[in-house]
Order: sequence, then C-alpha cells, then structure tokens
Amino acid sequence: MTAPDSTVSTVKVLFVCLGNICRSPSAEGMFRKYVVDAGLESRFEIDSAGTLDYHAGERADRRSEHAAQRRGIDISKHRARQIEPLDFERYDYILAMDKSNLANLERLCPAAHRHKLALMMSFAPTLGDEVPDPYYGDSAAFENVLDMLEKACRNFLTHIVEKQSLSALKA
Ligand code: 4NP
Repeated sequence: MTAPDSTVSTVKVLFVCLGNICRSPSAEGMFRKYVVDAGLESRFEIDSAGTLDYHAGERADRRSEHAAQRRGIDISKHRARQIEPLDFERYDYILAMDKSNLANLERLCPAAHRHKLALMMSFAPTLGDEVPDPYYGDSAAFENVLDMLEKACRNFLTHIVEKQSLSALKA
C-alpha cells in the first residue's frame, strides 16, 4: 500500500473483485501507476481485496502479472486478501469489478458507508458496465481486462483530481 503523507488527508481507494488475484490487483497496480505518474502518490492510499477468501495470501494470477508487466505495471508484490468490515469505514471509494461483487459488497456494507460503493466501469460506461472475470478465459481475456481498466482508471483519477482539487495541492 502507498505510504501516505500524514500531514495531508488522503483519498483512500479500494478495488474489489471475487478472488483478488486477477482484476482488482490489476486495477490497483494500474491506478497506482497513474497516481505516481501524476506526482500524487502522497495523496492516495490504494489497495484491493476480494469478496472470497479462497485465494488469500496468494500472489496475483501469473497471467495477470505478465499482462500487467507488459504494460509496465509491477504487481508481483501483491498478496490477495478478503475484504473485512473495517474496509467500509476506512476507504472513501470502494469500486467493484462486476455487479455480483457489488451486490456482495452492498450486502456486507453498513448503510452509512454504502454511498462509497460503485462499479469500476461507471467511470468508463462506453466500454461496458462490468469488467468480465478472466479466470477461465484466454490471454485475450486478460488483455481485455487491462484495456477496460486503463480507461476506467484514467477517468477515475481525473474525476478525483477535479473533485478534490488535488492538482493544486500536488507539491
Ligand atoms: P478475480 O478472478 O475475481 O478477478 O480475482 C477470479 C479469481 C479466482 C476465481 C474466480 C475469479 N476462482 O473461482 O477461484
């Protein structure tokens, strides 16, 4: 997780999928890269989680690692974890990869924090409303995940920067 600057408030973002080994670690790595490229690393805390604990402790799926690596994104340090109750308090944005993940999050999330939940692809709706699960797919499925995430992550960062006036606070 990105170390925050304790003197300024941070925007806390959690990406969520089913296993936390394919889509959400890819989203986390990609979004972090865009944040670092924008010089905004100290303004964010970024993490990912799965709704299942089945893969907890594992690295990202090798196919996701390799697809990310080909785009200059290193997710080799990722270790999967399951979402936990404190996440709903801690994070400002909790972005689900598909509708099933979102439904699970809505079921788990206290009402006071439900406004934090959204679909990842709500930030790139022209590409579809869900990031499809690539786990049983081929390499094209993993490339498609990254193509979708690129647009959604870029738009999401732009949205936050505008909403929070972060560019003015960059230094
Ligand atoms: P993810 O992909 O939710 O994008 O991490 C999956 C990983 C594992 C499984 C399904 C989807 N699984 O069934 O084990």
